[in-house]
Amino acid sequence: MFIITKLKEWQNLQAHYDNISSQHMRDWFAKDPNRFNQLSINVGDIFFDYSKNRITQDTIRLLTDLAKARKLGEKIKNLFDGSPINNTENRPALHTALRNLKTESLVINKKNIMPDIKNSLQKMHQFSESIRNKTWLGSTGKPITDIINIGIGGSHLGPMTTVEALSQFAKKDLKCHFISNIDPEHLYEILNLVNLETTIVIVSSKSFNTLETITNTTTILSIFKNKLPKFNINKHFIAVTHNRVEAIKFGISNENIFFIENFIGGRYSIWSPIGLPLAIMIGMNNFEELLAGAFAMDEHFKTTDFDKNIPVIMALISIWYINFFNTSNHAIVTYSHNLQNFRNYLQQLEMESNGKQTSQNGDNLTINTCPVIFGEQGSNAQHSFHQLFHQSPHLIPVDFILAASSDTTLANHYKILISSALSQSQALMRGKTYNETYAELISEGLDKNTASFMAKHKEIPGNKPNNMIVLNKLTPKSLGSLIALYEHKTFVQGVIWGINSFDQFGVELGKSLLPEILKSIHYEPEPSNKSSKLDSSTLGLVKYFNLMRSD
Ligand code: F6P
Repeated sequence: MFIITKLKEWQNLQAHYDNISSQHMRDWFAKDPNRFNQLSINVGDIFFDYSKNRITQDTIRLLTDLAKARKLGEKIKNLFDGSPINNTENRPALHTALRNLKTESLVINKKNIMPDIKNSLQKMHQFSESIRNKTWLGSTGKPITDIINIGIGGSHLGPMTTVEALSQFAKKDLKCHFISNIDPEHLYEILNLVNLETTIVIVSSKSFNTLETITNTTTILSIFKNKLPKFNINKHFIAVTHNRVEAIKFGISNENIFFIENFIGGRYSIWSPIGLPLAIMIGMNNFEELLAGAFAMDEHFKTTDFDKNIPVIMALISIWYINFFNTSNHAIVTYSHNLQNFRNYLQQLEMESNGKQTSQNGDNLTINTCPVIFGEQGSNAQHSFHQLFHQSPHLIPVDFILAASSDTTLANHYKILISSALSQSQALMRGKTYNETYAELISEGLDKNTASFMAKHKEIPGNKPNNMIVLNKLTPKSLGSLIALYEHKTFVQGVIWGINSFDQFGVELGKSLLPEILKSIHYEPEPSNKSSKLDSSTLGLVKYFNLMRSD
């Protein structure tokens, strides 16, 4: 059984940790005016400043030694060449092929997959243009004004996050809505916003059997049938799926189906027809800019030495905190209104990929893996949980994400936004010592005792690590690069930990337990003698729900 902590490279890192973990970044910055230049990288539309981390050049060297010991170079090659790296489902993870449009041939299982990928883009182009140029008409002969995407997980977060992020590039006379949750309030909320005559529904589900998605779709279809006299499903329902058979059984015509290959994982699928809502809203040229941005990051990731490779550095620094500083959280703070859901996108990307404790070989891991990813928009986060970042014992690494420039005419607002991000990043790094605080309070006229007491409450330790990820501007291209950056960071973490980042068996149990409970929730008082397989908590809760609703 392979135990990573026995690796020489791991033990060198442990010794290095013991040596530098108590040092303060504030002192490193004071000693080395060149620290920022040495620990920042600019690639295409992305500037990555990782100088405010608990690392030295030696740390990076030792971390890249670990990456080499874990054969990262070979694994990166396997990611791109279609090797079955998703070993438990025996398939490749080829989201990178969807944006590698210069390639004529990539043979998987004796089939060149590139023609299908290009044909799929062509079909997306034709369909999105027919909506945008108003040649696609609904059952009553009217052009489309509203798109409803029904999906959940990657079939929701991908399209929703990107449509929101690129809203400034969207066609102004089209509106895109997203229904994901099974709570009927979500459905009502969206249906109250649209005219069914001019609405098209995109059912996004790779499996076409996700309970929430199929239930929502079935309900919406029945509403269309009841409300639109001359309703023709093929004028209002599109499917994006791997399961053509189920979609056709549901009543969606074959030509209205956009196929997703099995080697595209849900949380890696925005580059596929799952991105159809985005393509409709921003146009295919801009969608292909998104692909180009991801491709640029792919090339950087494939060809750059590890110590200058942004996804590799991001992943290795996160491992430095998770496995040596024993952190278990990672915060994403986006100083960008339009990126407000990017943290939710990353939650699924990282936590569904690497929230595991079994190695690819089936061994129980002896180390921690993916942290809890959470976050908020900046500067809102400053007025909610940044207090804990600054003065709690927790060490929570933060990724600050923002755009250097914007087309806004309110330059004063934007300058405050940027300055807020930079000041939070600086405060986390340097803090404010007791002596600095005490002197400040004395200068404000406090007596020595009070100043001494209050300084203990107002001092800020600092030494809290954070990355600054700066997009030149929030565009389809820079967003594509940003998403690909985090895809590859996630991949590198999985390689170092030795886990399969591309399956998600953990979500199956809840789904399998649901039917037994669902059939027990019937809103009438439970006959007391009725036997049940449910545990006492679940049964008690079921009875409570039945009682409440029957009242
Ligand atoms: O959460 C499990 C999961 O399979 C995700 O990986 C996926 O993105 C989501 O459910 C939706 O799956 P589908 O696209 O098949 O409806």
